[in-house]
Amino acid sequence: MEEKRLSKALADAGIAARRKAEEMIFDGRVKVNGKIVLTPQTKVVVGKDKILVDEEFRVRPVAKKTFILNKPKGYICSNTAEDQERLVIDLFFREKTRLFTVGRLDKDTTGLLLVTNDGELANQIIHPSSDIVKEYHLRVADEVTPEHIQKLQKGAFIDKRRVKPTYVKKIKSNHLIVGIKEGKKHEVKILALRARLRLRDLKRTKIGSLCLDKLPLGAYRALTKKDKEKLFSLSK
Ligand code: URA
Repeated sequence: MEEKRLSKALADAGIAARRKAEEMIFDGRVKVNGKIVLTPQTKVVVGKDKILVDEEFRVRPVAKKTFILNKPKGYICSNTAEDQERLVIDLFFREKTRLFTVGRLDKDTTGLLLVTNDGELANQIIHPSSDIVKEYHLRVADEVTPEHIQKLQKGAFIDKRRVKPTYVKKIKSNHLIVGIKEGKKHEVKILALRARLRLRDLKRTKIGSLCLDKLPLGAYRALTKKDKEKLFSLSK
């Protein structure tokens, strides 16, 4: 049986993406053979070592699954609900495995979202070094002018750093598409606000060259091998 780092074992088991799994370990939420382990590098063998998360979830070898969802409004990207919020993962009640969203879309954002138990894949997509472009469709309340486009292209300061979109295109008088790589919290909303555009609807339409095609709102399907290739192609 394969020996691997504890953080990777948690990610492979679909507990969380690698960095989040490291946080869980640092927070003392993970026991190996009855003892709390605080170092993510600790080597373990899944199936042989008894790995327990939050005293509840036993880490066992699992088949990896990833789904593509057309996220509807009103659902949040979290694995725990506060105040009776609706969770994206509740839409996957038929799936027997523990899933999580790959990155986040805001509650009022719709569109392409990946949901998985594959921590490695999630990490490859959300890691800043991945360079994958995520494309968003914006419907705004205003007629988009060249000044709006210029301001959008100039970017905005987020977390004390200037963040610029990879591309901006006007597609109709009040519709735009914006491609971004970084994926900072509320990045597109902040860019629109700084450009003095009043955003009415935000939808993610692409990750890499993977699109929703005809997937209806609220529906999901399993990600194919071809889809996976699209995630990492034409993404620079
Ligand atoms: N940027 C945002 O502002 N919100 C999202 O949901 C995604 C990107």
